[in-house]
Amino acid sequence: MASVNGSVICLLLVLFSFSHGEREYGARFHFPDKAQLELSDVLNKDCGSTEYEDRDRPAERRLQESPWLVLFYYPDESVHFCHGTLITRTHILTTAVCASNIAVNETSVVLGEYDLATDQDCEGVKCSDPVQRRSVEKVIIHDGYNQDTFLHDIAIIVIDREVLLSDSIKPICLPLIKFEIGTVNQPNVYNSLWTTMQRPQQYWMRYVELDDCRQLVGHKINLNEGQICARSYNNKTIEMTGGAGSALEVEYHSRMYQVAMLSIGILESEPGTPFIYVDIPKYVQWIHDTVKSN
Ligand SMILES: *[C@@H]1O[C@H](CO)[C@@H](O)[C@H](O)[C@H]1NC(C)=O
Ligand SMILES: *[C@@H]1O[C@H](CO)[C@@H](O)[C@H](O)[C@H]1NC(C)=O
Repeated sequence: MASVNGSVICLLLVLFSFSHGEREYGARFHFPDKAQLELSDVLNKDCGSTEYEDRDRPAERRLQESPWLVLFYYPDESVHFCHGTLITRTHILTTAVCASNIAVNETSVVLGEYDLATDQDCEGVKCSDPVQRRSVEKVIIHDGYNQDTFLHDIAIIVIDREVLLSDSIKPICLPLIKFEIGTVNQPNVYNSLWTTMQRPQQYWMRYVELDDCRQLVGHKINLNEGQICARSYNNKTIEMTGGAGSALEVEYHSRMYQVAMLSIGILESEPGTPFIYVDIPKYVQWIHDTVKSN
C-alpha cells in the first residue's frame, strides 16, 4: 500500500499460514442470556439484523450481509487504509491506530459498500442503494491509548451528517452487558472485512486464551487486559491488509454483535500466530459515554 503513513499501516499487514501439530484451543464465547437493546439510550438502535440466519456462513459475504462495515480512504486514494463499524447514525468505531491517520474534513468515509468493482451492487434481482460518503467531523481517541504497546487501541469517529439507514447501511449491535469470555456457549465467531478481494470475505475464527496467546506473541507485544486473541478456525491463510477496525462478530438472538475489533497482527511471526483484537465488552461503558457526549 503506497501511502504517506506506510510505516504505521505496515504493522497491520499480516499474512501467514498455519503450522501443524499445535494443540487445540478452547474457543468459547459466553453470551449473557438477555436481549441487550434497551440498556443504552444511544447504542443498539436498529442494530445487527440481516436477512441471513445461517450459522455456517460462506467464505464470501453476501449482499447486505455486513451493512455496518465502513471503509476509510486517504484523499484521492482508491484503496482503503482501515475499517470501522457503524454504531449509530453518526458514530463509527475503529482503532486508535486507524484514527491517528484519520483527518477531520479530509479522510473519506464510505458506507454501504459491497463490491468494490461495481457502482451499483446487485445479487439476482436485489440491488443495494448507492454507497453513502461522509466527511469526518471529529476524531476521539481513547485517552489511555499507547502507541508503543497498543493499549486501549480504540477510537470513535463522528461523521459530518447522519447516514440514512437501509438494508445496506445499519449499525452493528454491541454487547452491553458485561460478559466474560467463558465456557458455556460456543457461537460461531466471524471476522469480516475487505481484503484483496472486491467483496468482503468472512473468516471463521477461534478464540485463543490470553495465556496461550502470550506464549505465542508475548515476545513481540505485551498483551494487556482489554485485548483478546483469535485465529482462523479452519487454518485458512488470512489476508487482513487494511483490516484494522473490522469486527469479530457473533450472532445472538438473530442479530450480529461485535465482540471484538481487529487491532494488530504481528509481522514476521511464526505461522499460526493469532491476531490481536480489542475486547469490546471491556470498553462498552467508554463507547456509550463517548457517543453520548459527542
Ligand atoms: C488446524 O491446525 C491444528 C494445529 O495444526 C490441527 O490440530 C487442526 O486439526 C487443524 N484443523 C483443520 C480444520 O485443519
Ligand atoms: C472542517 O470544515 C468545517 C466546515 O467547512 C469548518 O468549519 C472546520 O473549521 C473545518 N475543520 C478543519 C479542522 O479543517
